[in-house]
Amino acid sequence: MSAAEDGSSDETSIGSNVESGFIDLVFEELAPAEMAERADSFYKQMEKRRTTRHFSTREVPKSLIEAAIKTAGTAPSGAHLQPWTFVAVSNSELKSQMREAAEAEERKTYSERMPEAWSEVLAPLGTDAIKEHITDAPWVVVLFRHSKRLRGNGEWGPTYYSQESCGIAAGLFIAAVHNMGLVTLTHTPSPMGFLRELLGRPGHEHAMLLLPVGYPAEDAKVPDLLRKSIDEISEFFD
Ligand SMILES: Cc1cc2nc3c(=O)[nH]c(=O)nc-3n(C[C@H](O)[C@H](O)[C@H](O)COP(=O)(O)O)c2cc1C
Repeated sequence: MSAAEDGSSDETSIGSNVESGFIDLVFEELAPAEMAERADSFYKQMEKRRTTRHFSTREVPKSLIEAAIKTAGTAPSGAHLQPWTFVAVSNSELKSQMREAAEAEERKTYSERMPEAWSEVLAPLGTDAIKEHITDAPWVVVLFRHSKRLRGNGEWGPTYYSQESCGIAAGLFIAAVHNMGLVTLTHTPSPMGFLRELLGRPGHEHAMLLLPVGYPAEDAKVPDLLRKSIDEISEFFD
């Protein structure tokens, strides 16, 4: 019988009880040359990732979408609350409804709501209120962020750093999609409250990103962008 089971509550028993929730870290040390090789090859692979706005209608197996979501679910999260739900849609009728609602909002955004400072930086990307990727891509994955959680006592409590946590999960999802040889677009229809209702999510879940996933269209184009150099995005104190 453990100390906790026999009702004693001295510090040692509390410590050992907490410790029983721990396992050994699985860590495989790599040789320096292999570390350098992996670091370089991962960077080179990720450097090829591009956001594509032109999708093929070619089918993609559900198992690949599941693999990308499982990868996203490995993300670290504030207090390990995993404050995310990924809703994956391949149903054509539902995708049409999502596109219609997204375009209705985006038409208002582009024609009435968009400040000049925003349209100025969007112009080189060639985006507009037409969102054909929502119906062309075989899968549309919507990431919902949980702002609250149901506690064991039945009351609602906050989640912690849910924006940051979901941002990291989204990054892993995007990397997974790229790694499996597909493309995605990080789309933020503005505003996107309509997605909760269309996809039947509860009030504490907030649509954060809409990510079509698929093959690029044969004639897919991307803006000719430059990424900032390492010197521009970092500072080292050796
Ligand atoms: C948070 C976030 C929101 C974005 N929203 C949109 C969007 O609503 N529509 C769109 O076409 N692209 C959107 N993008 C994609 C960016 O325009 C794109 O990542 C950027 O131009 C760099 O291109 P790259 O991803 O090919 O490197 C978004 C990206 C991020 C990270």
